[in-house]
Amino acid sequence: MTKPLKACVIGYPIKHSKSPLIHGSWIHDHGLEGSYEAIEIHSDNLENGIRNLIDQGYSGFSVTVPHKQTIMDLCDKIDEKAKTIGAVNTVIIKDGKLYGTNTDAFGFLENIKQKEPDFNFENISCVVLGAGGAARAVIYALQKAGVKEITLTNRTKERALDLQRMAPDLIRVEDWRDRNKLLKNKDFLVNTTSLGMQGQALLEIDLDALPQTALVNDIVYAPLMTDLLTQAKERGNKVVTGIGMLLHQARPAFELWTDIMPRVDQALEDQILK
Ligand code: ATR
Repeated sequence: MTKPLKACVIGYPIKHSKSPLIHGSWIHDHGLEGSYEAIEIHSDNLENGIRNLIDQGYSGFSVTVPHKQTIMDLCDKIDEKAKTIGAVNTVIIKDGKLYGTNTDAFGFLENIKQKEPDFNFENISCVVLGAGGAARAVIYALQKAGVKEITLTNRTKERALDLQRMAPDLIRVEDWRDRNKLLKNKDFLVNTTSLGMQGQALLEIDLDALPQTALVNDIVYAPLMTDLLTQAKERGNKVVTGIGMLLHQARPAFELWTDIMPRVDQALEDQILK
């Protein structure tokens, strides 16, 4: 990289974003010059806001709520991953043009691989709770990782049926009220809903039918040990927390802007959770 990194995360609101801490830590560790800030852009001002970033010479930016879908219309090119997931979370600016991609599926998979390196995704049976934007990235990742089947359940069934179109042969949609019994004979359970997050309702689920050998992951990371993960751990299941997905999804973005693929370690996780 020749010129200093000039990158940011855009969203509304943005002040609670952990991305400046994550990227700032990597800029420091690699002795780079440059900055990564949080920039608040309201939906009504998205196009103008992006134009300003281009004019100011930004190398790129991360995209968070509520712009992950709307930014797609402003991109000159979007890669296959982001198209399939239906959202862009990372943009590279080159010669005034915007290239959109999505690193959430990578982040999800790398988190599990780092925390449970012996867990094998090939030919396993999974249950995915939720059918929002996060679920789309998780299902994309599970498909690429070679799982055998995905049972998908969501409070609003139509959203699950819509997501099923991403991989009709792989995904089976079941009613939300049947979520407890779906856990029978499954190898992997992931919660992609916002249930269990600080300030949200708890995820009501009975894990009795889930084999003790199954791995359980929650993409909620505040609190770090959600009620789901606590319950799972108490009955002997291995669990992976959600913070790693946030950390790992930032790595390919940093690489795209700097040509350096940064690492995620416990020290970074502790720093972000402080
Ligand atoms: P994200 O992009 O982070 O996935 P989202 O698109 O708002 O966010 O999705 C939130 C998910 O949490 C959805 O699966 C949502 O279910 P609905 O599609 O039925 O809205 C789920 N969710 C949120 N609150 C819920 C609740 N009280 N009970 C069950 N599911 C809930």
